[in-house]
Amino acid sequence: MRLTQKPMTALLVLLSATVLTVHAQAQKPLPKLGKSSLKEVVNAMTVEEKAKLVVGMGFKMPGMPPPVKGEKPKPINIGGFTLPPSDPEAYDVPEKVVGTAGRTHAILRLGIPSITVSDGPAGLRIDPTRPNDKRTYYATAFPVATLLASSWDTALVKKVGVAFGNEIREYGVDVILGPALNIHRNPLGGRNFEYYSEDPLVAGSMTAAIVNGIQSQGVGTSIKHFAANNQETNRNSVNTIVSERAMREIYLKGFEIAVKASQPWTVMSSYNRVNGTYTSERRDLQTDILKREWGFKGFVMTDWFGGHDAVAQMNAGNDLLMPGNPDQSDAIVAAVKDGTLTLAQLDANVTRMLKIILKSPTFKGYKYSDKPDLKGHAAVSRTAAAQGMILLKNDGATLPLAKGKKIAVFGNTSYALIAGGTGSGDVHKAYTAMLPQGLANAGIKVQPELAKSYADYLVEAKAKQPKSTNFFMAPPPIPEMDVTGLVEKEADGADAAIITIGRNAGEGADRKVENDFTLTDAEKALINSVSNAFHAKGKKVVVVLNIGGVIEVASWRDSVDGILLAWQPGLEGGNAIADVLSGKVNPSGKLASTFPVAYQDVPSAKNFPGKEFPRPAGQQPNPMVGAPSEVVYQEGVYVGYRYYDSFKIKPAYEFGYGLSYTKFKLSDVKVSTPEFKGSVSISVTVKNTGKAAGKEVVQLYLTAPNQTLDKPAQELKAFAKTGLLAPGQSQVVTLTLHAGDLASFYTDKSAWVADAGEYKVQIGTSSREIAKSVSFKLAKEIVTEKTHKSLTPQVAIEEVINK
Ligand code: BGC
Repeated sequence: MRLTQKPMTALLVLLSATVLTVHAQAQKPLPKLGKSSLKEVVNAMTVEEKAKLVVGMGFKMPGMPPPVKGEKPKPINIGGFTLPPSDPEAYDVPEKVVGTAGRTHAILRLGIPSITVSDGPAGLRIDPTRPNDKRTYYATAFPVATLLASSWDTALVKKVGVAFGNEIREYGVDVILGPALNIHRNPLGGRNFEYYSEDPLVAGSMTAAIVNGIQSQGVGTSIKHFAANNQETNRNSVNTIVSERAMREIYLKGFEIAVKASQPWTVMSSYNRVNGTYTSERRDLQTDILKREWGFKGFVMTDWFGGHDAVAQMNAGNDLLMPGNPDQSDAIVAAVKDGTLTLAQLDANVTRMLKIILKSPTFKGYKYSDKPDLKGHAAVSRTAAAQGMILLKNDGATLPLAKGKKIAVFGNTSYALIAGGTGSGDVHKAYTAMLPQGLANAGIKVQPELAKSYADYLVEAKAKQPKSTNFFMAPPPIPEMDVTGLVEKEADGADAAIITIGRNAGEGADRKVENDFTLTDAEKALINSVSNAFHAKGKKVVVVLNIGGVIEVASWRDSVDGILLAWQPGLEGGNAIADVLSGKVNPSGKLASTFPVAYQDVPSAKNFPGKEFPRPAGQQPNPMVGAPSEVVYQEGVYVGYRYYDSFKIKPAYEFGYGLSYTKFKLSDVKVSTPEFKGSVSISVTVKNTGKAAGKEVVQLYLTAPNQTLDKPAQELKAFAKTGLLAPGQSQVVTLTLHAGDLASFYTDKSAWVADAGEYKVQIGTSSREIAKSVSFKLAKEIVTEKTHKSLTPQVAIEEVINK
């Protein structure tokens, strides 16, 4: 074949054009994150790169062997836990910060760095020491969430967030896996200490406050666990059967408040199913409600190993799968190829992640110091701890204790104070200040012989304690020391006694009624013998509760003179407790969850933790999955005080309750308008009528008209804490309600509706200590928000009703 001149020229032209294009392409720089538009970056990513970005880099489970080089990683079994294969990169790529919970993949050719996420709600959880490094990397253990909520002080909680956020940034982490705000549905919930309250307004307000504090430092949060994750029994798979209304009014409300008021960088979906489907696989939850209805701008990540179908999770809008394994990325690539996952959906998930990565300190190249101000943060932790402690009982002005008094300190946890709960919410702190040390610092004398007996007993008992077999669990508690023979002597020599009762719990298991919600025989015996001996000498006895969740108090509280609920107060716990016991700080905490008289009184007692079904034949038990199980939220919206108040059940200590060393009087309650027009304000004068400076919490409970819908007797709709009022000083507190605050969720209309009629406003200092009731009218019903039909139960739920 002979080429003519013309075609030859054409070929040359074509060839040179091709060379030019290739050359031009080679010349054209690749898009780079931060320099190019997000669209350009996403368009430049291959499907494989996208599938890598939306799946984390894996997790080095303590004790887990690395995958064998060159072999496809296999699932791993450690102590009965079968875990999916880990990504070899988790072992090969050095961690930016040692001991964090997870990382995302970097795509360096496009300028996308790997970001680091770490637990947990009460402080940054990273390894305190590193191989071949003499320095330490301890973190501040802040008080647990339940204590922070008990302060009812959002400004204080924001300050904790600022210190916390600074520590996260200075240790090089991008996103903290917290705060956690699941509702205290039942006192036995193993992770209740990590959560705020039985009430969604308190939970949501506290979450927004701490998120705003943390994120003011240029690092992100992950509010968790979204949603209806209220138990640890079979936590990875339990099917939560719950009505749409209870979801909206109780279990989603706190998240809604927090998203709208603080735009957390990320949200963590929960392990459980809701009405049959894993939360991470529910598009109605992750996309329709969270992103569309509430306007959430960040990305959603799964809880660790949560859900089971990577493609369904992507389709739901669960943007990132954590900790991630290569099989998930492979499944995503395959799904794009076979059309079960659209590129548009994958791109949307990738884009959400990139928007957050852009804000991260790692992307910005922040030079972290590894030297946060631990001293300053410990001071913040101590202040917050004292502000969230609750004085439950103080007969005959037993407290505060005067300086120089000699105190006999009983109870193991006085000497082995529990700073916070176990599992991922535990913090590697440098120390915990014990109670005797705190008392001594406050000028109160601790009886030395008794202290020595406890020290010896604890050393011996700890040596005998069985080693924990499970990554999450604390070893079993040490039984209380038998004080026979010691107590009489102490009652002679000391001026008063303190007994600390401690409880610990955490991720992976719920608490029990016997010997956990209730006191053990040894604890009852301790309280009895100390009280008998001290009371016989006319001396007082105070119990300090160092607990992470609600316990039974009604059967023993009459034996003692004072009770301080100190919760799990963080690393400065002993000092903070002493601040309150000595009167340096006047207690102003209030219960954010009810203390019932008996466990049977709890509205979910019959439905917690649900029921288990037989395992399919041949299926091996795996704690990572749990037994087939379901839990029915039969109590509907009647959670906590909503139930006790509506069904007239007297609690031991009601929601909102807490004493002070001074007294307050509420007066002059005024409502801004007799008829609701867009908003209504209620003002009240709070006067300190006692002898010590102190703070009071004003609480507003609303009773809505209920002709068409069964509604709780009253619901908390606003609250505010006063400043520190000197004796005789007053402050006017004004609380404002908007239309949304009057509304209930009507399932048949998929809408929030404020019914026409009379609204009764109760202003008080607890849910049952009401100073004054006022009312206003709503002339015409208002549909405050129209939503979408979602989360519909597949079975009928026989919910309790109050009519
Ligand atoms: C917990 C999460 C935690 C994650 C990472 C999970 O087991 O449920 O709360 O953030 O682990 O450690």
